[in-house]
Amino acid sequence: MKKKTSRTDWFTEARFGMFIHWGLYAMPARHEWVRHNEQLSNEDYQKYFDRFDPDLLDAKEWARAARRAGMRYLVITTKHHEGFCLWDSKFTDYKATNTPAKRDLLREIVDAFRAEGLRIGFYYSLLDWHHPEFPIDPKHPLRNRPAAEIAEMNRHRDVRKYAKYMRDQVTELLTQYGKIDILWFDFSYAKDEHNGTRGKGRKDWESEKLVKLVRKLQPDIILDNRLDLPEAADIVTPEQFQPEHPPRRPDGSIAPWEGCQTFSGSWGYHRDEATWKSEKQCVEMLIRHVARGGNLIMNVGPTARGYFDHRAMARLDAFARWMDRNARSIYGCTMAPDEFKEADGTRYTWNPRTKRLYVHILDWPFQRLHLPGLAGKVAYAQFLHDGSELSWFENGHATWNSEDLPAGTLTLRLPVVQPDIVVPTVELFLK
Ligand code: GLC
Repeated sequence: MKKKTSRTDWFTEARFGMFIHWGLYAMPARHEWVRHNEQLSNEDYQKYFDRFDPDLLDAKEWARAARRAGMRYLVITTKHHEGFCLWDSKFTDYKATNTPAKRDLLREIVDAFRAEGLRIGFYYSLLDWHHPEFPIDPKHPLRNRPAAEIAEMNRHRDVRKYAKYMRDQVTELLTQYGKIDILWFDFSYAKDEHNGTRGKGRKDWESEKLVKLVRKLQPDIILDNRLDLPEAADIVTPEQFQPEHPPRRPDGSIAPWEGCQTFSGSWGYHRDEATWKSEKQCVEMLIRHVARGGNLIMNVGPTARGYFDHRAMARLDAFARWMDRNARSIYGCTMAPDEFKEADGTRYTWNPRTKRLYVHILDWPFQRLHLPGLAGKVAYAQFLHDGSELSWFENGHATWNSEDLPAGTLTLRLPVVQPDIVVPTVELFLK
């Protein structure tokens, strides 16, 4: 337990990362599960491989956008469920070097993000819809073929050979790209059943062997929790929802967790997806994660030509503007101690080292913000974005216009007009 805590120290300090989902699915541009959704065979999907040519890729530009947004680490899909590899793996031909891109794209991206000071994590898909030894299963694009046909295909597929392929590839990834900080395996579905096939889990992946190998090659690496082997996990990874309660260890402490979220409803570039979150929703999401003791990893799905489209850039810029002035309430911060009950329309984050409490005002109130239980506890208050002082009164007693408020209430005096910042944050110096 002690060891696990130290492995994730940098991670819980960093709080904010960038996820990148990039592969051939950027070309159909209608979800990274397009092969599954449209039940495409290897042959159907080949047209993308033959034409994958990200001629506008500037990995330095990606890395700058991430750093400016305040992100401190990257997790990138080295291989997603489609099976396509961004690096020059010697265990497959299904890789970027054999497309018109003609080069190891992973190397370029890793180098660029390192140069901007970000840590590097690799996402590696346990599913593989292209590999000839991967048995057809309930998630596979060919799952609805006649059962007899599937049985015949699976007679020639050996999942043990596939598990070995994964170990070989993971060995490449963990020995040829320097220190890797996170390995993000995705995902297990052992209980699924469909058309005479069953899902896959730890027995199929040979998860224990895989973990041993990973720990041997990179002892400090952080492992996610999708290998169907909970005891090996360093982090919990809720996806596409905002947990209201952090996952707890048996001793009551918060288990390191990372919410993974998208700007719109897809991970891969999706041209026509319209459910893009507003800039405020994005910034709020970061605050809400840290206010429950978690990290946020925000996803970008680059286009097939290799750039972040304007919708993604607008949101990264929104993070940049907010983080420029408010990062102190995010890095090294966590959930506030229980004694501080959040005021209406706010979320709190807390820095246990500096003992400062951050009140993020999500709904701007009219002139007064009532903070339960803080009377007598605050030495100084200011807006974080500009360091301007805020005054207050306690227990409802203003010099004039008093009102009955629960004992212990501290009331901040706020300007009528919200400062020009998407979520204003108050920094409280406690006594
Ligand atoms: C899922 C999806 C996937 C995405 C991932 C990210 O399990 O299969 O497409 O990569 O979650 O968390």
